[in-house]
Amino acid sequence: MQTEIEPQQMDALPSKKAVVIAIDGTSASGKSTNARMVAQALGYVYVDTGAMYRTLAWYCLQHRIDVENERAVANACAKWKPSLVCAEGHVHLTIGGYYPVAEIRTGQVSAAVPHVAAVPKVRTWMKKKQRECIRFGNLVMEGRDIGTNVFPETDFKYYLDAHLEERSRRRAAEGVQENLAARDQRDSQRAAAPLMIALGAKVINTSGMTPDETSAIILEDIRNRLKQQDRQHEPV
Ligand code: DC
Repeated sequence: MQTEIEPQQMDALPSKKAVVIAIDGTSASGKSTNARMVAQALGYVYVDTGAMYRTLAWYCLQHRIDVENERAVANACAKWKPSLVCAEGHVHLTIGGYYPVAEIRTGQVSAAVPHVAAVPKVRTWMKKKQRECIRFGNLVMEGRDIGTNVFPETDFKYYLDAHLEERSRRRAAEGVQENLAARDQRDSQRAAAPLMIALGAKVINTSGMTPDETSAIILEDIRNRLKQQDRQHEPV
């Protein structure tokens, strides 16, 4: 099933308080796999915010916009009119009804996306869109700045990391040769919403752990926190 929300419809929708699970961390730390597993186990909607940045990077490349030109990227972001779509429990940005699922994973897009993601106006635009996702229901949202910047108010914050050698091995096993140390440095040293551990986040080092083990830790913590919240809201 696909649900699409146009900006003009937003005010008409019910505003129930949604639960947001924020999963941040370094590249290849296991964020995507674990976020999907957690979303599936809880029946929550999954949002890959990296894919949203990748979609904009792809759009810029398609329109021959120099991704290293901050002003050009900010202008492109102000002009594009993607839709926020929830299909099969996953949220995407679509352009003219099209989600470039394979195109956003190419080496060209991977090289372009850190430039696009460093533009402050892009981050402001993305944050607004990402916050709009709560209209689809409870969320598991993964990225780099979800707990620090997009949903800093959530009580459910997780930060995943793993040793560089293991992360490089994981990427290589996926057939991707990438300089992860350079990517970590770019992600954590940019001025706008850099990658950091959010205050109160549970930090999990996934080195030597299977996705089943990691997601079990996250799920147990979420269930404990949800129970705690229920107890706090019980009438006395
Ligand atoms: O997770 P990923 O590799 O698909 O992310 C693509 C790029 O987007 C990466 O350079 C980090 C950036 N990103 C970001 O800056 N903030 C997010 N919330 C998600 C991704």
